[in-house]
Amino acid sequence: MDTKIIRTDPEHIDPAAMREAGRILKEGGLVAFPTETVYGLGGNALDERASGKIYAAKGRPSDNPLIVHIAETDALFQIIEEVPKKAMAMAEAFWPGPLTMIFRKNDKVPLATTGGLSSVAVRMPSHPVALALIREGGGFVAAPSANTSGRPSPTTADHVKEDLSGKIDMILDGGPVGIGLESTIVDFTEETPTILRPGYINREMMEKVIGPVRTDPGLIAADSAVRPKAPGMKYRHYAPKAEMTVVEGEEKAVQEKIRQLAAEKIRQGLRVGIIATDESAPFYPEGIVKSIGARSCEESIARHLYSVLREFDQCGADCIFSEAFDTPQMGRAIMNRLLKAAGHHKIQA
Ligand code: TXA
Ligand code: MG
Repeated sequence: MDTKIIRTDPEHIDPAAMREAGRILKEGGLVAFPTETVYGLGGNALDERASGKIYAAKGRPSDNPLIVHIAETDALFQIIEEVPKKAMAMAEAFWPGPLTMIFRKNDKVPLATTGGLSSVAVRMPSHPVALALIREGGGFVAAPSANTSGRPSPTTADHVKEDLSGKIDMILDGGPVGIGLESTIVDFTEETPTILRPGYINREMMEKVIGPVRTDPGLIAADSAVRPKAPGMKYRHYAPKAEMTVVEGEEKAVQEKIRQLAAEKIRQGLRVGIIATDESAPFYPEGIVKSIGARSCEESIARHLYSVLREFDQCGADCIFSEAFDTPQMGRAIMNRLLKAAGHHKIQA
């Protein structure tokens, strides 16, 4: 299949292009599109054949449910049984935006979209191209991140092209995304709202709106017997091809440790990648050193994380050492993705 790529300026959306993309969705086809978090691979969420195509294009296990994207709050009432009061307060505070909420679904949503679950994940993105596409495409767009299953999520249209060209109908190229990490997921089918995936909107921000929020025990204890509740969180994904190690500890000690580890591997003839920051990059004398962003600006770290992992794939690194990032707002989200990329391999400096 030929994948049509259309450049769409988020500030000046071309209505004809959006109509064409919307028609593809209504006819059961697939369109990749930018959101404020990562690029999504969209299909009609109410059409089980379209959901099937999404799983096939990504090579995604069929038990891993999709997020349904909507453009108006009204749409929520059409696909779920009941909206808890706290969820309404969250929608008012954070939608449109990088927040996904899980509810009990009604019969309108096919099980093929929810990986066989009786619950459904719903999100209203804030990206103007995403909102326009959802409206043109019938109002309910199932969209996982637009990467091949197991690869880092795409933060540019080129990443999507790398993974999905020839497998989907269209890519809407709206430039690089703003946040760079997938949305925060909160489960409202539990007694206490529960974070299943950390993101830009953190626990403290949510607790200011609705009171106590817990974190899924399966997320914290990565190597324990407790399974994460979001099926997608159990896979080792976001993964680069190289073996990766995250080094934690005091900043200077971390740099020293990475210098030593890198030197050893380089002596063994391996290609070594180092994930550093603008501040620390000059302190690494050897290896392929890439700055992920400025330690003083956590947004820049989140925004570049996945593209740096992809770059290391491209330059054929055998192993990667990364500094840890314990930043104030998104620290948990950043470390969650890094540790997943590293298969939870971390050491203390
Ligand atoms: O920012 C985002 O959320 C992006 C953009 C495109 O919106 N989408 C995204 O989708 O990250 P995906 O499919 O890559 O990740 C969805 C995650 C998976 O871990 C999946 O298991 C979980 O959400 N999930 C979806 N529905 C669920 C449900 N009903 N119960 C538990 N987990 C669910
Ligand atoms: Mg994903």
